Amino acid sequence: MCGIVGYVGQRDAADVLLSGLERLEYRGYDSAGIAVFENEIIKVVKSKGRLADLKEKMQKEGKPSGHAGIGHTRWATHGEPSDRNSHPHGGGNVTLVHNGIIENYKKLKEFLLSQGRTFESDTDTEVVAQLIDYYYIENHGNPVEAIVKTLKEVEGSYALGVIFADFPDRVFALRKESPLIVGVGENESFIASDVTAILQYTKNYYLLEPGEIAVLSKQGAKIYDLHYQKIEKEMKTADWDISAAEKGGYEHYMLKEIHEQPEAIKKTITPRIENGLPNLEECGITPEKLLEFKKIHVVACGTAMHAGIVGKYVIEKLARIPVNVDIASEFRYREPLVGEGDLVIIISQSGETADSLEALKLSKRLGAKTLAIVNVKGSSIARESDMLIYTHAGPEIAVASTKAYMVQIAVMYLFAFELALANHCIDETECRRLTSLLQNTPDQISAILENKEMTQLIASELITADSLLYIGRGLDYALSMEGSLKLKEISYIHSESYAAGELKHGTISLITKNMPVIAVATQRNLLEKTISNIKEVKARGAKVILICHDAYHPEEGTADFRFGLPEYEDLLMPMLAVVPLQLIAYYTAVHKGNDVDKPRNLAKSVTVE
Ligand code: F6R
Repeated sequence: MCGIVGYVGQRDAADVLLSGLERLEYRGYDSAGIAVFENEIIKVVKSKGRLADLKEKMQKEGKPSGHAGIGHTRWATHGEPSDRNSHPHGGGNVTLVHNGIIENYKKLKEFLLSQGRTFESDTDTEVVAQLIDYYYIENHGNPVEAIVKTLKEVEGSYALGVIFADFPDRVFALRKESPLIVGVGENESFIASDVTAILQYTKNYYLLEPGEIAVLSKQGAKIYDLHYQKIEKEMKTADWDISAAEKGGYEHYMLKEIHEQPEAIKKTITPRIENGLPNLEECGITPEKLLEFKKIHVVACGTAMHAGIVGKYVIEKLARIPVNVDIASEFRYREPLVGEGDLVIIISQSGETADSLEALKLSKRLGAKTLAIVNVKGSSIARESDMLIYTHAGPEIAVASTKAYMVQIAVMYLFAFELALANHCIDETECRRLTSLLQNTPDQISAILENKEMTQLIASELITADSLLYIGRGLDYALSMEGSLKLKEISYIHSESYAAGELKHGTISLITKNMPVIAVATQRNLLEKTISNIKEVKARGAKVILICHDAYHPEEGTADFRFGLPEYEDLLMPMLAVVPLQLIAYYTAVHKGNDVDKPRNLAKSVTVE
């Protein structure tokens, strides 16, 4: 969601802010703006729409020229997307950008109105700007004191980049819940919602913690606590390369990220395998510790939750431990039966998803141990959890998650193998065999990626559909949930995933002539049953697209299209079968001319509940 960038240095601030905001576009937004000190006067340009609209406005109104400023991409919460509601917002001496939600903004606004202040927007953000300015005047022009006083009044989540008209060579920053990093280069400093925004300038950064205030100048960044005491913080170095965040010759980030999957799996699992067996000790997980858990909960949102469902099937099958999978926003509010002796696994690409983070905190309060599976280093979920497995997918820019899902399930397999071995549900030989099969999945996936033509053909059949179904049984059903989500989020075609055996209990009535049904049938023990279900929909006019092992050829007339996958262990087939499902979704969206990497209404990092 909203992206923040700030800069002080010798470069052209507007250029730095715009290029940083471009790198944060993937988070999702509906308007954008910047504020730059031009000859010591704050000049603001903001616009509804894309960064291209903002740039067009600058061509007409003039690009602010200076060396310090703040920028923002907004994903509307309070107030419709409009020029007026776009950030930055001002209040007297203060101009700021905000990511998050101010829960008590109405009360604060009433107070400020009673002080004779007026407002120009419908946003909760403007209230914070006005309140900081109110205390700034009351404190005789001390910016940090004004910020601290405001923080005490404000409830909710925020990351803020603030400039004061009286301090043209400073940018101030602070956060609670919403992420913010402080980058440090030579004679320049930055703030950003995530490190990808500043990677082209510096790899060195600090993670700002709640209750810390950063003061940026050309000379560097100083960080203070709420008592205005200077804090010495550990400098981090990003291990992501700038090329990892660029398209590298692919038409879209999504396609690039689909192709990065074999490498991402290798990077994620290789450091966690020793002598052919899983070893998660560096993540805080030992066989002895695993034996303490009698029940496992997996809590996550969207695609990450789907990875959890694959994990449930694999853990229950191999390690014989009950696994509950919950949507984080449901888990939080349904008084979950979680407590001591339970393990709660939180899966998240961004590590900042508000509901997943709160679910993690709740699980800790209830006495459970928590394990986070997270892609973004140093993110809130990574920092809050008891145990942590980083996935090494690199930056995922496309809003539709692909490689992050792939490495999440790879980690779930590794975890399940280690747990099953610890529980004596499988022996060392079997564990070695499974681990080696997991290690070979990148080669299988590379082979599938060589053969994209069929997915393009299938996609061309889907573009005229209003609605379609994904069906499967067992692990195929778990996987089809992800296939369906991928398609609907970027192609805007309605789709649902269904357990194939459940169709005739209601949903089969939806089948009409030529309605596409994507049937995933990779589980050989369930194949006959799935084929019977396929025949049921075929008999009612469905256009069937079958995803199965290459060696399997159903009887003539069962399927209209068939995508053959390499012969492989059934247990690991979700890692292979997800690839054609991702490609089908991708090419359908491309054929429809949609904005593949930035689908409408969606944000990459969902930092509000
Ligand atoms: C879909 C997608 C979302 C995310 C969900 C959770 O392609 O990306 O469904 O999976 O918003 O996000 P993270 O993993 O960052 O917690």
